[in-house]
Amino acid sequence: MTKTDLFDVKGYGVIVTGGASGIGLAYSEALAEHGARVTMLDVNQERIATETARLRGFGWDVRGEVVDVTDKPSMHRVFDETTALYGRLDVVFANAGIDPGPGFAGWVSADVDARPQEYAIENYAEERWRHVLDINLDGVFTTIKAAARNMKSRRSGRIIVTTSIASTTNTGGIGAAYMAAKAGAAHLMRNAALELVGYGINVNAIAPGPFITNIAGGHSKIPAVQEEFSKHLPIKRMAQTEEIKGLALLLSSQASSFIVGVEIAIDGGSKLLGGG
Ligand code: NAI
Repeated sequence: MTKTDLFDVKGYGVIVTGGASGIGLAYSEALAEHGARVTMLDVNQERIATETARLRGFGWDVRGEVVDVTDKPSMHRVFDETTALYGRLDVVFANAGIDPGPGFAGWVSADVDARPQEYAIENYAEERWRHVLDINLDGVFTTIKAAARNMKSRRSGRIIVTTSIASTTNTGGIGAAYMAAKAGAAHLMRNAALELVGYGINVNAIAPGPFITNIAGGHSKIPAVQEEFSKHLPIKRMAQTEEIKGLALLLSSQASSFIVGVEIAIDGGSKLLGGG
């Protein structure tokens, strides 16, 4: 097999949730620029329109749909329609996610009492907990379910969940719901991997460290925030979304044929220090 064949995704049918921004947009670009047919799903109507038009401008086979991962009937409909349109569903990224705050600025702080008191566990709003779990955990479940339904009959496919280094490390600034949802998504991924590997479907996760994206209101785009973060990272900088593309291609292609049920950190060495 040549090097080109190993990472080949040409003609693949791909769906990316949360595809209009940040890490999901980078996944979409990585696959589309290598010849895959990519459908990006997102709740942000304006961004999905802009990004779809921009990527199509490069001559790439990209389409966008406004779909909320918490809307189960719409999710199943769009997965079925997309699979029918492409005649195949090869790769699905369960990526959509939110950080409900207090936000990235406080994330590096080990001092949990430095957070606004509304994020303390005894004050943590039920609605905020539900909202985060609905998107960051239930949304992943719905995505895996819709993907498996459309992949199993062909006995091949790849499902890639975006978790976080927060699935295994705790930090002061993000809050209980995000931590629980990401840990849940990681274990759900492993269970799905075990269930689906016999059907030729490899399920894995990408666990990013701090990437500069629009999450948490785009806090990470503020230079002072980046500077603060960088001090706490062995690599001394935050990541650009471009840097996730290699891993996305690896887990989407034949190159990862024997990689099953693992969560691969891409974190600039954060875990070497035992935390975020
Ligand atoms: P982002 O905010 O730039 O992109 C997330 C996209 O998901 C947005 O376009 C948003 O509109 C969409 N989205 C949000 N709720 C949705 C819903 N209910 N249905 C459909 N789409 C929805 O954020 P980023 O950073 O690219 O986040 C992507 C994933 O990466 C998330 O799961 C996040 O938790 C994870 N992550 C991000 C890290 C970072 O440092 N940026 C670190 C670790 C994990």
